[in-house]
Amino acid sequence: MAFRRSVIAVIAVVAAVMLLRVAISADTEESEPATSRVPFPEIAKGKGEQCVEDTDFMRRNHMNLLMHQRDDTMLHGIREKKHSLKECVNCHAVPGADSMALTAASPKHFCRSCHDYAAVKIDCFDCHASRPQPGELPDDHGESLVGATVE
Ligand code: HEC
Ligand code: HEC
Ligand code: HEC
Repeated sequence: MAFRRSVIAVIAVVAAVMLLRVAISADTEESEPATSRVPFPEIAKGKGEQCVEDTDFMRRNHMNLLMHQRDDTMLHGIREKKHSLKECVNCHAVPGADSMALTAASPKHFCRSCHDYAAVKIDCFDCHASRPQPGELPDDHGESLVGATVE
């Protein structure tokens, strides 16, 4: 009984490894062209050493930190410059071809790079600037990242 079980276990492991190999090789072949059929999001790296919270926490909870309707409850007390949308945009500015920061009109905009992939739509940038505004840049930002116009 024990022997039979371990044989089955070995077969299962070998099968799993073979499947994984096939999956990996198929993957490498398909990702050869720059535009694969199912593009994985290319998320630009943020400025500085780290995000306002743990990166993994941010991946999952940034929306809760930002949402208006939560202001009265969970955000009350932690709403300071630290979780400001302006700061997100400042640190997560993505330089465009002309070395000015991209707006949310570009699919390469930090927020969109991920949202497009996850099929998330936000209206925040209808009102909020989606790139750094003059005078609101962190120290390590060059003035070149400031857009000439809002949006
Ligand atoms: C001081 C600069 C800074 C500020 C301000 C900042 N971030 Fe970040 N953020 C980073 C860095 C650095 C990382 C980790 C490196 C990276 O981009 O993957 C990061 C990572 C992230 C990630 C995960 C990205 C990924 O690759 O999965 C998300 C989501 C995120 N930030 C959202 C936000 C939001 C929303 C705000 C505003 C509330 C914000 N960040 C403010 C610097 C910043
Ligand atoms: C109809 C216009 C409008 C829309 C849409 C909107 N906001 Fe705002 N938001 C404002 C105004 C006005 C203020 C107050 C002025 C300020 O502090 O910038 C504000 C303030 C904020 C603040 C505090 C100030 C700051 O810069 O951090 C955050 C955070 C914020 N909004 C996040 C969001 C997010 C996230 C969305 C999308 C889910 C969003 N807003 C959509 C108008 C809007
Ligand atoms: C690492 C990927 C990633 C990045 C980068 C990212 N988001 Fe998100 N965001 C998501 C996902 C996934 C959801 C949907 C989560 C859900 O529905 O539970 C979401 C949801 C949101 C929501 C709530 C939308 C709704 O209607 O429920 C807001 C607001 C938001 N993100 C703002 C931002 C802003 C602003 C930025 C850029 C500063 C940003 N996100 C960057 C992945 C990301």
